[in-house]
Amino acid sequence: MERELGWRWRAAAAWWFAVAVGCSLVGSGSAGLLESNPGLAYNFYQKSCPNVDSIVRSVTWAQVAANPALPGRLLRLHFHDCFVQGCDASILLDNAQSEKTAGPNLSVGGYEVIDAIKAQLEQACPGVVSCADIVALAARDAVSYQFKASLWQVETGRRDGPVSLATNTGTLPSPFAGFNVLLQSFANRGLNLTDLVALSGAHTIGKASCSSVTPRLYQGNATSLDPLLDSAYARRLMSSCPNPSPSSSTIDLDATTPLKFDSSYYTNLQNKQGALASDAALTQNAAAAQMVADLTNPIKFYAAFSMSMKKMGRIDVLTGSKGQIRKQCRAVNTS
Ligand code: HEM
Ligand SMILES: *[C@@H]1O[C@H](CO)[C@@H](O)[C@H](O)[C@H]1NC(C)=O
Ligand SMILES: *[C@@H]1O[C@H](CO)[C@@H](O)[C@H](O)[C@H]1NC(C)=O
Ligand SMILES: *[C@@H]1O[C@H](CO)[C@@H](O)[C@H](O)[C@H]1NC(C)=O
Repeated sequence: MERELGWRWRAAAAWWFAVAVGCSLVGSGSAGLLESNPGLAYNFYQKSCPNVDSIVRSVTWAQVAANPALPGRLLRLHFHDCFVQGCDASILLDNAQSEKTAGPNLSVGGYEVIDAIKAQLEQACPGVVSCADIVALAARDAVSYQFKASLWQVETGRRDGPVSLATNTGTLPSPFAGFNVLLQSFANRGLNLTDLVALSGAHTIGKASCSSVTPRLYQGNATSLDPLLDSAYARRLMSSCPNPSPSSSTIDLDATTPLKFDSSYYTNLQNKQGALASDAALTQNAAAAQMVADLTNPIKFYAAFSMSMKKMGRIDVLTGSKGQIRKQCRAVNTS
C-alpha cells in the first residue's frame, strides 16, 4: 500500500513537473514531447476500469514466471508498436499485409500474453481498455516481475488504430545502422540523443538471432571481426553463431547478465561487448559515450529509462475520440 501511495505521489509530481517544463518550453518556441501532452494520463481508467493495473500485472507475472523470455519479447513489442505508426496496437493485427509479417518482426512475440490480458479485461470492463495501453502496461509489468515493483510509470488513454502495414516497418532502425542514422531514426519519432542512449539499455535483456550479429564476425566464408568487438567476446559470439548459423540460433544481447534488467548493458559497451553494431555505435560519438558512462550507474539508468519510456509511449498516440477500443486485439472491430 505504501508503495502504491508512493507511486501515486510521484506520478502527480511528475505531472506537475511536465506541466512546468511544458510551459517554459512554449515560451521558447521549442517543440518537445513534454510540451504537449497528447491526451494521456496516469490512472486514465481509474473510474472506468479500476482494476486494470492489478489484472494486467497478475496475468503478466504469471506468464513471466513460466517463461523468462517474455520480458524481452514484451518490451520489444511495445518499442515496435510505437516506432511503426505510433503506439496504436497496429502491431497486433492479424492480416496478410500486417506489420507482423515484416522482416524485423522475427523475434517479436508475446502476442498470447496480450490476448490473455485482453480476455480478462473484457470480462471486468468490456470495451474499455485499449490494446495499445495493454501493450504498454504489459511491457512494464514483464520487466517489473524481477523487482516486484514498477520501474517506470505508464500513462494510459491510448486508442487502437485501424491499419497495419508491413511496408511501414521501414521506420524501425537497423541493427547495422551507424550512430547518425540511429540518431536520425529517433529524431524522426521526436526522441533525442538522451532517449537513444537510455532506450538502447533495453538490450540489457533478451536475445538476438545470429543473423543480427554474423555480419560483425564474417565476410563470406572468412572471419572478419568488427574492430568494435572485444576478441574474447567475439570468439564467444562465433561459437554461438558459426558460419553459416542455423536460422534458429540466438545470442544474448547482454553478455554478462542476460536475464537481469540492470545497467550492465552500458558496462558491456565500455568493454567492447555490445552485441549489435547499433549498440557499439553508441560508443562512437563523444556525447553518447559520456551518457553511456553515466548510465553504468543503475540509479541513473532507471531514471533515464523511465523518462524516455514515457516519451516513447507518447509517439503518435490516438486519444479522445480517435481510433477505437478493439474488442479483440488481433482484429479491427467490424461495425
Ligand atoms: C536503437 C535502435 C534499436 C535497434 C537497431 C534494435 C535492434 C534490435 C534487434 C536487431 C534485435 C534482435 C532481433 C533478432 O535478431 O531477432 C533486438 C532485440 C530487442 N530489442 Fe532492440 N533495437 C533498438 C532499440 C530498442 C528499444 C528502444 C527497445 C525497447 C525500449 C528495444 C528492445 C529490445 C528487446 C527487449 C530485445 C530482445 C527481444 C527478445 O528477447 O525477444 N530495442 N533489437
Ligand atoms: C514474421 O515475418 C516472417 C517473414 O519475414 C513471417 O514468415 C512470419 O510468419 C512472421 N511472424 C509472425 C509472428 O507473424
Ligand atoms: C532530450 O530531451 C529531454 C526532455 O524530453 C531533455 O531533458 C534532454 O536534455 C534532451 N537531451 C538532449 C541531448 O538534448
Ligand atoms: C564457402 O563455403 C561453402 C561451404 O560452406 C562452399 O560451398 C563455398 O565454395 C565457399 N566459398 C568460398 C568463396 O570459399
